[in-house]
Amino acid sequence: MKIIHFDEIDSTSLYLMNEADSYSNFTIVEASFQTNGKGREDRKWNANKDENLMFSILIKEKEIIENFKCLSMMSANIVRKYLTKIGIKNVSIKWPNDVYVNDRKICGILLQGKYPDYLVVGIGINVNQKEFLGEYRVKPTSVVNEFSFLVDIDAFKSNLYKTLINELEDFSYSSSKLIHDLRKFNYLQNKVIKEGKVIDINDDFSLVVDNGKETIFLSSGEVNTNKK
Ligand code: BTN
Repeated sequence: MKIIHFDEIDSTSLYLMNEADSYSNFTIVEASFQTNGKGREDRKWNANKDENLMFSILIKEKEIIENFKCLSMMSANIVRKYLTKIGIKNVSIKWPNDVYVNDRKICGILLQGKYPDYLVVGIGINVNQKEFLGEYRVKPTSVVNEFSFLVDIDAFKSNLYKTLINELEDFSYSSSKLIHDLRKFNYLQNKVIKEGKVIDINDDFSLVVDNGKETIFLSSGEVNTNKK
């Protein structure tokens, strides 16, 4: 597994997008601090230095690129399983690809790329950061806040990287299990969002919503619960 570490960089995903030609499939770029961390929908991803996990994985495998819809949800599901395995309770996936603990966000995922050449999966996980100052759309939590003790970040990340790469290497098998997990650990299940009440996740990974008149299928985009 090739891992490139930066103490500080603008964004691990921007770096991999610019340098994609120079690296091979499943290269991981990680940083202790990002000066211009990117979130979805042009938002920023701010995370304290040395306290969190910020990394991006380069994907060059044709089968995965062709099934890109599945990739970010699969990554979220791998993070969900991993956090559950280390003992965090009530971990779920907020469709399409955030990982929540109870009603708080612990991990965000950003998928970028140049179709059909490569994809970059950027993953940010709050690990040892206790306080989150500033404006957040959804209240964050972190591993330390769930456990009440600091986590050995090196062990945490090397096990997670292994798990992620193993599952991505076995993409067909992992994707065959994915829809089951997305349904079972669907944070939005039965919640009311602006489009209506969430009733399911479809086999094509779209979100199934009852808007009072009909059933509609949301294929991507931001989803907010009415609950504040
Ligand atoms: C989101 O929830 O909006 C997605 C956040 C993704 C953040 C990660 S941190 C590592 C990688 N580099 C970035 O600039 N963004 C992603």
